[in-house]
Amino acid sequence: MVALIYAIVTGGNKGIGFEICRQLASNGVKVILTSRNQSRGEEAIEKLNVCGLSNVVFHQLDINDPSSIACLVKFVQTQLGKLDILINNAAEIGIIIHDDKEFKDGGGFVQVLDENVHLLTNIIKEPYELGEKCLNTNYYATKTITESLIPLLQPSKSPRIVNVTSTYGDLCWFHNETLKEELQSIDSLTEERIDEIIRWFLTDFKAGKLQKNGWPLTTSAYKVSKAALNAYTRLMARKYENILVNCVHPGYAITDMTSQTGFITAEEGAKGPVMVALLPDNGPSGVYFDGTQIASFSSTRLVDKKQIAPLS
Ligand SMILES: NC(=O)c1ccc[n+]([C@@H]2O[C@H](COP(=O)([O-])OP(=O)(O)OC[C@H]3O[C@@H](n4cnc5c(N)ncnc54)[C@H](OP(=O)(O)O)[C@@H]3O)[C@@H](O)[C@H]2O)c1
Repeated sequence: MVALIYAIVTGGNKGIGFEICRQLASNGVKVILTSRNQSRGEEAIEKLNVCGLSNVVFHQLDINDPSSIACLVKFVQTQLGKLDILINNAAEIGIIIHDDKEFKDGGGFVQVLDENVHLLTNIIKEPYELGEKCLNTNYYATKTITESLIPLLQPSKSPRIVNVTSTYGDLCWFHNETLKEELQSIDSLTEERIDEIIRWFLTDFKAGKLQKNGWPLTTSAYKVSKAALNAYTRLMARKYENILVNCVHPGYAITDMTSQTGFITAEEGAKGPVMVALLPDNGPSGVYFDGTQIASFSSTRLVDKKQIAPLS
């Protein structure tokens, strides 16, 4: 008898997360599609059932809610006994798109570059409270759910953790060379130091010192959250040698997070995370995938000004 492979996907009710669930289930994986909202999750399951996929079940999960996490952990312990794949997909962007038309006419996120920051003030807003929430969800809550499920990944023969990151987590967006070096130096970096860096960022964000101290100036909290998630991925890969822990940028996909702008569909965006979730046992760990290709955590980004949509 072939043993079932169990996967949990966070934020599985829509967008890339929903597609990850669909593609994993199509590959024969038993998927626990989680959503913080019961009815949105059940509707998603219904859609998959209509497509002929019966190997998906719903479980409520708000990654920011410790009691919700505890309930999911209990479900896995009592009903499944182990977990094989955890896909940390749930996230928030931490900005408000103030003028949707201008945002879309200007090329969506293509125009969201630090050199354009003064031109974007009427199009996107980044309130401090949203930035803080973004860091809590994308980094701290992702850490909490991961650490809560690691004991259940241990009994698996082929445990995998896939952190859905973003090209915005690339260290090229940071202007402080010392900080970049520190986040890149995985042998000396610690989780405590990541916490200190996040606290320092939030203090600067509140005090209006982002430019002074070399932080990203646009979608700042989101970029810091994903850079922290990338660093954490590497630390976890080092700590748990038996688990393949990787992060994947899905591509610029048309979803609610991007206000329905982007270059690819959610279906295409899910391909990288699914491929990394199904890596063979001799596959890499602690690496960053751009889609389905291994890439650098800190690239040299040469911005082609001609590709930037003109802003008036
Ligand atoms: N789309 C892109 O171009 C792009 C590019 C790079 C990286 N990504 C990454 O891809 C992943 C999926 O993004 P997406 O574009 O598919 O976004 P999306 O359509 O906005 O979906 C985000 C999902 O996360 C869920 N979520 C947010 N906070 C949560 C919480 N506290 N607990 C549980 N679920 C929560 C949302 O639930 P609700 O429906 O309840 O809000 C939703 O299911 C994210 O990690 C994102 O950073 C996306």
